[in-house]
Amino acid sequence: MAERETWTTRVGFIFAAVGSAVGLGNIWSFPFQTGSNGGAAFLVVYLAIVFLFGFPAMLMEFVIGRRSKQNPISAFRELGFGNWSFAGALGVIGSVVTLAFYSVIGGWVLSYIAGSATGAYFGEAGTFFESVSAGPLAVGTHAVFMAVTVAIVAFGVQSGIERATKVMIPAILVLLLGLAVWGFTLDGAAAGYEYYLSPDFQYLSENIATIVPSAVGQAFFTLSLGFSVMIAYASYLGRDDSLPADGGAIVVINTLVALLAGFVVFPVLFAIGVEPGSGGVGTAFVSLAGAFGQLPGGALLGAAFFFVLLLAALSSAISLLETPTSYVVDNYDYSRRTVATGLGAAIFALGVPTALDTGTLGWYNDVVFSFLLPFVVLLFALFVGWVAFDSASEELGMGTSLGGGFVTLWLWWVRVVIPVGIGLTLVLGIQDLLI
Ligand code: PHE
Ligand code: NA
Repeated sequence: MAERETWTTRVGFIFAAVGSAVGLGNIWSFPFQTGSNGGAAFLVVYLAIVFLFGFPAMLMEFVIGRRSKQNPISAFRELGFGNWSFAGALGVIGSVVTLAFYSVIGGWVLSYIAGSATGAYFGEAGTFFESVSAGPLAVGTHAVFMAVTVAIVAFGVQSGIERATKVMIPAILVLLLGLAVWGFTLDGAAAGYEYYLSPDFQYLSENIATIVPSAVGQAFFTLSLGFSVMIAYASYLGRDDSLPADGGAIVVINTLVALLAGFVVFPVLFAIGVEPGSGGVGTAFVSLAGAFGQLPGGALLGAAFFFVLLLAALSSAISLLETPTSYVVDNYDYSRRTVATGLGAAIFALGVPTALDTGTLGWYNDVVFSFLLPFVVLLFALFVGWVAFDSASEELGMGTSLGGGFVTLWLWWVRVVIPVGIGLTLVLGIQDLLI
């Protein structure tokens, strides 16, 4: 079997992991969730969850991956606890299912780039959405998006994922920054910022029991946690870099991109007086396209915006495909190219029902977001904190200058605070689903 690849450079790993983190979650879900859940008041809660739960949870996956140097399923066996492999496997299943949905939405984005450039959705944002989001066209764009994802993953860790994300991440940052500056010049800027960030503590406190579980789900999702993805990516790491420093950089960049997205989306919507819909991903496409269709320069700027969205979706999709691919490549004697193609085809098929009827997206949200995700992170925490804690602590201490105090604090955080927090979240989330 060929030797296992590693990232060429530390920065290469950071770009790849940022590529995974920065996705539809940042540019779609985050701004709309913030706007409709109490603005700056929600933001405070959300940021606290990202840094207090997301950051240490990311370190758990990094430690499992780098220590074992194995895919997320074999990792547990490699560390001497083979019967915990089911935890990694659940994450891999989450990746596979997520990619099926993600790729369908990636296909919509392709149609929206074309629709911006040609003006096809101008003045008919609603009918355009219906024609591109469900039906033969949606199946076709889903296929194209998946094919590009497969092509990148087939080239491998260094010449595929690392090389691609090294171009995509700077492009996302520059374009988004440019769009935010343009947003600032629009008539809707002040009203947009107001909607996005004006703190509504009353709303927050009245709805805290439903907001916290969804903020936890959003925080894990946006950081690509609970899908075993960060285990897979960290398994290609060399030993001497600081995991806390890398994780910190990834969390901060992911947060900044999300914040920046709101500074683009809301000025655009308010510039022409469109109400930001809170009805999920479809509403967001319709209202945003409606706005671009009426703004001067909307063809170019709309195309730029949807191009950013495409890059973000693609750099996340490759991590979702890499995760199951790494398992098969590590364990069976097939070439990476064959595996990526085969898995891509199977996951494409899994997404076809969604490309024909978007109703399945609500199901995904309920099951994966509110349940599977926190549950898998909980399993990882129990494993790292109470089962493999010796090697986990030792691994976290390697390459960092933070010292033993940080490692001890992290370990007890993982042992107690994260499980209790997620336990409460799961109870609230399930309660919410049942009512
Ligand atoms: N983090 C991505 C986003 O914010 C979603 C994702 C989750 C990607 C898990 C890969 C793995 O959109
Ligand atoms: Na994200």
